[in-house]
Amino acid sequence: MKVFLCPNREKLAALTAALLAAQIRTKPESVLGLATGRTMEAVYARLALAHTTQQLDFSRCTTFNLDEYAGLAPTDPRSYHTYMHQHLFQHVNLTADKTHLPNGMAEDLSAEGTRYDALIQQAGGIDLQLLGLGENGHIGFNEPLASLSSRSRPVVLAPETRQQNAELFDGNPDSVPPRALTMGTGTILESKRIILTVSGAAKARTLQAVLEGPVTAQKSASALHFHNDCLVLADQEAASSLTIHSAIDHATQHDPELRALQTLLNAH
Ligand code: GLP
Repeated sequence: MKVFLCPNREKLAALTAALLAAQIRTKPESVLGLATGRTMEAVYARLALAHTTQQLDFSRCTTFNLDEYAGLAPTDPRSYHTYMHQHLFQHVNLTADKTHLPNGMAEDLSAEGTRYDALIQQAGGIDLQLLGLGENGHIGFNEPLASLSSRSRPVVLAPETRQQNAELFDGNPDSVPPRALTMGTGTILESKRIILTVSGAAKARTLQAVLEGPVTAQKSASALHFHNDCLVLADQEAASSLTIHSAIDHATQHDPELRALQTLLNAH
């Protein structure tokens, strides 16, 4: 795992978007794993801008999102289908039949999870998976105790997750659907590259536990230690509880990949 710190959330979003754009330019037919949440809004805004101003071409890309609420129709304004449409899909030239999210309305949610994993495999696997971090340490909706080798499947959302995601549900956690479909932690770990983007002081203690603590099913993000090409990008607020700053600085000075990130960051 490599860790790179950005001075603020704007630079963090710019760097995350620049890495996705570089992936698309290097391999125009990339299979991208996409995430939702507030952190990603600024990332998608920059990708949309790169499409308009720098001809970033999404037309040959395929995308798979991490998760969707159970029981919400794609047209529901609170669904992740709507989120993706509003923040990215409507602004770029992705082909509609190449964008995928789990179907939260599927009659058989377990079968939908199995179908989703098969679709990812048929597409050749995910080249680059973008991840956000839940305050309880989840990736996707892999809540505490989810198996670290889990496949895509229906899950029950933790109370703290319903609380965090209540904003779109009139601020009422009880209105957040109690269940969701998520890509499994095991499925996520099969992605060829992973970028975990973490922003804000509210995530600081969780990020510290994920990076410096044990690998544990209490925090599915800690399973990323098992991935051999995972980059963690954090802003200074999210990194404020880390105790390994000198190790991160040392690696940033001497690792060519991290030095290249510094150059890329300076250009944005
Ligand atoms: C939701 C999503 C996660 C995402 C998390 C972070 O819970 N299921 O995939 O990582 O939000 O969201 P935010 O960026 O709003 O903190």
